[in-house]
Amino acid sequence: MRQQDSSSRGAAPEGVERLRAGVELEVEIERILPGGVGLAHARGQTMFVALSAPGDRLLVRVERVKGSLAFASIKEVLDASPVRVEPPCRYFGRCGGCDFQQLNYEAQLAAKVEIIRDCLRRVARVEPPTEIPITPSPDAWRYRSRLRWQHDAQRRLLGYFERGTHRVCDVVECPVALPALQEKLNDLRVRLREGELPDEASEFEAVAGDEGVALAPSLEESDAHTQARVIAGERYNFDAGCFFQINHELLEPLVREATRDAEGESAVDLYCGVGLFTLPLARRFARVKGVEGNAVACAFARLNLSGAGLTNASVETASVGAWLADHATAHAPVDFVLLDPPRAGAEPEAIAGIVALRPRQISYVSCDPATLARDLRALYASGYKIAHASAFDMFPQTHHVETVVRLARPL
Ligand SMILES: C[S@@+](CC[C@H](N)C(=O)[O-])C[C@H]1O[C@@H](n2cnc3c(N)ncnc32)[C@H](O)[C@@H]1O
Repeated sequence: MRQQDSSSRGAAPEGVERLRAGVELEVEIERILPGGVGLAHARGQTMFVALSAPGDRLLVRVERVKGSLAFASIKEVLDASPVRVEPPCRYFGRCGGCDFQQLNYEAQLAAKVEIIRDCLRRVARVEPPTEIPITPSPDAWRYRSRLRWQHDAQRRLLGYFERGTHRVCDVVECPVALPALQEKLNDLRVRLREGELPDEASEFEAVAGDEGVALAPSLEESDAHTQARVIAGERYNFDAGCFFQINHELLEPLVREATRDAEGESAVDLYCGVGLFTLPLARRFARVKGVEGNAVACAFARLNLSGAGLTNASVETASVGAWLADHATAHAPVDFVLLDPPRAGAEPEAIAGIVALRPRQISYVSCDPATLARDLRALYASGYKIAHASAFDMFPQTHHVETVVRLARPL
């Protein structure tokens, strides 16, 4: 059913059949979009092509159509983009983990900055800053210090979910895992072969630090231990049960950028985890309040603060939205708010609560440009403006990117 693309933008040309699942046709990839897919146009329709590179000429198969959008997969690379490279991982395309291995590293960085710009324009409806510098990862491979392996006890499989499914892709080697995590995967695979992994454990969370590898659920005494990392002179304790950033080599510049020029008497660190930003903020401000929903992370944050001898910061175990709804007015005004929410972004009541705190400066650390842009739109509506935006390539070989946006309220 291979057909030549009669590509034209806008409405489908009269008499031209609309795209439907199963159709194969040739397209050219224009650019990479938020979500990491390539954009193409065919028969007046917009098409998203997974695992493509800008400039690729491809034979694609339409997998599904939703309204005027078609989702396609690559059948054949007809003319490879100059930025296309051979993905080195043998599971690439099947494993749901990486989706950028087909791009050389420069193209990955460029695509991520474009994704941020795109979200700022289309979702936040603001003109992006002229410069959005991106800090590359010192290691583009073997950088991940945290991994979640799925376990299919019945079929004796251990690895990651296959793309878009909950089937387990059995993985022997993961080229983005830190060597210590690869060793832990090797150990678990030996146990898998010998039938020693507990059937009830559907997944394992492994996290590497200075003390080795912590595993949850733990299989032996040494798996359960607390980890620690020293970042920019501060010591952080954490374990596999709470969040800690996965690319440790980028944390020093990330913390520097997120807290740069932060000044005043009081600061609030929302979604503070184990205190990655709370400790440096406590060195700059007289009073700091951290808010975090995970009780284990809060306990580590308090331990990390007391280990650093910082008594001017305290941490509340609470949902950020609810805490702000109850306490924002009592704490206002604060000088500086830092927020680093999960991928879903801040809850709507959290944005209203931040505005109620009346900070002069806001530092928004985000791992999802789309939800970041949604929240920026709400902050713009309250008078805040972007002073600076920068990106950090925390997740090489994937379309994910960390962004730090500094906002200020005009006086
Ligand atoms: C992206 S992590 C950032 C953690 C910390 N700032 C860091 O860099 O290590 C987001 C944190 O938000 C917490 N969290 C998620 N939803 C929350 C909510 N509604 N209220 C409070 N904390 C929440 C998670 O437990 C996690 O620790």
